[in-house]
Amino acid sequence: MSYQMYSSRAKDLLADIKEQYPDKEGVVVLFAGFEGEEHRFVQESSFYYSTGLHEPAIVYVMDMQGKKTLYVPNCMKERSKWVVAPLELTDAYAKKIGVDEIKVLGSTCAGYQMHPFFPQSEYENLLHDLKVALGRDGVLYTLAPNSSHGYVEQRLILQHLQSFGFKPEIIDISPIVAELRRTKDMHEIEQMYKAVDITCIAQDAAAKAIGNGQTEAEVQASLEYIITGSQAEPSFPSIVGSGKNATILHYTENTGTMQDGDLVVVDIGARYNNYCADITRTYPVSGKFTQRQKEIYNVVLETQEYIADLAKPGIWLSNADKPDESLNHLARTFITGKGYGKYFPHGIGHFLGLDVHDVGDYKKPLKVGDVITIEPGIYIPEENIGIRIEDDYWIVKDGAMCLSEGLPKSAKEIEAMVQDKFSD
Ligand code: GLY
Ligand code: MN
Repeated sequence: MSYQMYSSRAKDLLADIKEQYPDKEGVVVLFAGFEGEEHRFVQESSFYYSTGLHEPAIVYVMDMQGKKTLYVPNCMKERSKWVVAPLELTDAYAKKIGVDEIKVLGSTCAGYQMHPFFPQSEYENLLHDLKVALGRDGVLYTLAPNSSHGYVEQRLILQHLQSFGFKPEIIDISPIVAELRRTKDMHEIEQMYKAVDITCIAQDAAAKAIGNGQTEAEVQASLEYIITGSQAEPSFPSIVGSGKNATILHYTENTGTMQDGDLVVVDIGARYNNYCADITRTYPVSGKFTQRQKEIYNVVLETQEYIADLAKPGIWLSNADKPDESLNHLARTFITGKGYGKYFPHGIGHFLGLDVHDVGDYKKPLKVGDVITIEPGIYIPEENIGIRIEDDYWIVKDGAMCLSEGLPKSAKEIEAMVQDKFSD
């Protein structure tokens, strides 16, 4: 894989920073995430977007002339015994990954990994170099939104560095990075198509595993077998909710047993090469919708088709100030018109990309290159009816292209998917 693409993204980032802050000298600093013990490490999305690097606890520094230095934990030798640690401290490797220099962060770290409450000595080279680079008035451009969530580990590192007396002026560049990440290039669309394809096959496996007396966990196992076997991983905890569980929006227990007459919401996604899919189908356990279920299913499907037809550059995903040009508000009006407004408790969709709920400013209208979900739902707990249909759409010049077009969704096709069992 070529790192040229990442160098060009770094260049764009720097240009945008300079445009917004023409009078402020400083350095751009991006912190990778830290690995934990309970989950496989996935690189922090904005760090990955800007560098293409998968190692935890590394730090990327770029000065205003575009000179890039990568700082790595000083335990790579030990680390290579524990994990595949591809980073090498050589000029040739620096050249390969598109940085000017690779340095150690500080003194040798204990063991083979670093943690967010590292001792000062283990970051001393970085601290020293930043102090020199910033001088008296330099600004630290980094990902540090003043919000209740987002970039949590990165903000922890900053706070920890501040506790060592390092207190530069900080400018949050998360809106700039979000704007860049929001527009997907062809390489990204290819990764997303692949994530979507895997997810579609997983939906098919889920449908086959659904049946009277089968458990939600068995359906989860079937679909995750496909995702894992495709060298992907779930992009969020798989939701397999039957009966009343189908009415709980983020049900992830998956401990129920399905019964004929139930509906099952299967809301799943594969993450492939860091890019996420997010697709939902709702199936009848018996392989046949009841009249009532089909009636509501068709309202949800009509809503999705109506909104997908409207989605195009210039319209908003959600904008309370322009309800007639906001997909979220138009969907609500549509479902309310069908009599189910109070049973549609969530938004119509979200941006999709390196994160399932990807970055992107909802206050700006949709534009070419955005990828969004469209996911209307109707949930009536008193009738044990929960129905959601979700697909992934790429905003193009004249409209929206459904990335998951190949996965059936008419009531008849959905019934056929459940009826089509694995043969002996
Ligand atoms: N697929 C889960 C969600 O969009 O919240
Ligand atoms: Mn979703």
